[in-house]
Amino acid sequence: MEAQQVAQQVARRFTELYGARPEGVWAAPGRVNLIGEHTDYNDGFVMPFALPHQATAAVSRRTDGVLRLHSADVADDVVELRLDDLAPQSDRGWTAYPAGVVWALREAGHEITGADVHLSSTVPTGAGLSSSAALEVVVALALNDLYGLGLQGWRLARLCQRAENVYVGAPTGIMDQTASACCESGHALFLDTRDLSQQQIPFDLAAEGLRLLVVDTQVKHAHSGGEYGKRRAGCEKGAALLGVDALRDVPHAGLDAALARLGDEEEVRRLVRHVVTEDRRVERAVALLRSGETRAIGPVLTEGHASLRDDFRVSCPELDLVVDTALSAGALGARMTGGGFGGSAIVLAEAADVETLTKAVGEAFAGAGFTAPRVFEAVPAAGARRLA
Ligand code: GLA
Repeated sequence: MEAQQVAQQVARRFTELYGARPEGVWAAPGRVNLIGEHTDYNDGFVMPFALPHQATAAVSRRTDGVLRLHSADVADDVVELRLDDLAPQSDRGWTAYPAGVVWALREAGHEITGADVHLSSTVPTGAGLSSSAALEVVVALALNDLYGLGLQGWRLARLCQRAENVYVGAPTGIMDQTASACCESGHALFLDTRDLSQQQIPFDLAAEGLRLLVVDTQVKHAHSGGEYGKRRAGCEKGAALLGVDALRDVPHAGLDAALARLGDEEEVRRLVRHVVTEDRRVERAVALLRSGETRAIGPVLTEGHASLRDDFRVSCPELDLVVDTALSAGALGARMTGGGFGGSAIVLAEAADVETLTKAVGEAFAGAGFTAPRVFEAVPAAGARRLA
């Protein structure tokens, strides 16, 4: 559906629910990460791009300290909350994401006096494609515009991350929210998560006869669970043992010496090795894209997967099967994307090979007795914006 049609549909539903037309309609996308995994909470580099799948919000202001929330994707009626009652980790449902954003804005001193919100999203949930960041960012952008807060995309991303870390209680990094807020159509976003400096890297696969497939394994993941937090804590331990602020500060050239200093801390050594080599892979991928050698990023992606599987240990049999099958069937590169423990993989391929690859992955899943994966093609889409 065209953006304008979506906006009209969401506005119409808002009007039915709340009895007046919304003041505006906004959209914010999900993302895939091309390369740079589990580096964002180590102050490192990432390179995501926005998906055409997005969360859309119709929103109006209120003046009575009430927040009303409704989602087209959930069976709930309108949920009504008092702004003064919003408290971290008081809510385990979907409303925690939009409510968390309102809480984070107010906690940062912005005067928000209430809102009516109707949300609708096409970003698959639990698929590692940042459905929660899309919900957060779309609400943050709407309130930023309506209340005239004048916050830039990176600042909204920080507030959304705070909503997710403190209000929802998931210890995630800054990549997903920044991708949703700041990506541009036709580009991947090269982001330095230390200072949030950004460069838009042209990424037009179709022009080169290439395709990027997203394979959603349908294995649901969640980052509020313990494994993500354990990896993060392990990385922080590594930085402390090495006497640096963050693993970003371990230079690639000094990696062997750093690993030697970690002695018998085998678990931490593996985490450190992943993060330091992954930052390097992002830099290599950026350099290759800049020099027009897009096909050459394939092996960099595949190396990244091996590192996540063997050193960081956040893959799973379904993700490994996508990667192995795709590579045997002629893909240029493949890797899991997002936090891992399920979710999605990406496959870089020649356009002509897409059909064979998709079939091979489907057959491999059937052969292994896994649920059939959902495969779609990803084209870098626009970041968060106002639709109406
Ligand atoms: C999740 C988190 C991100 C990032 C990735 C792993 O998507 O939300 O902050 O840490 O995992 O790269």
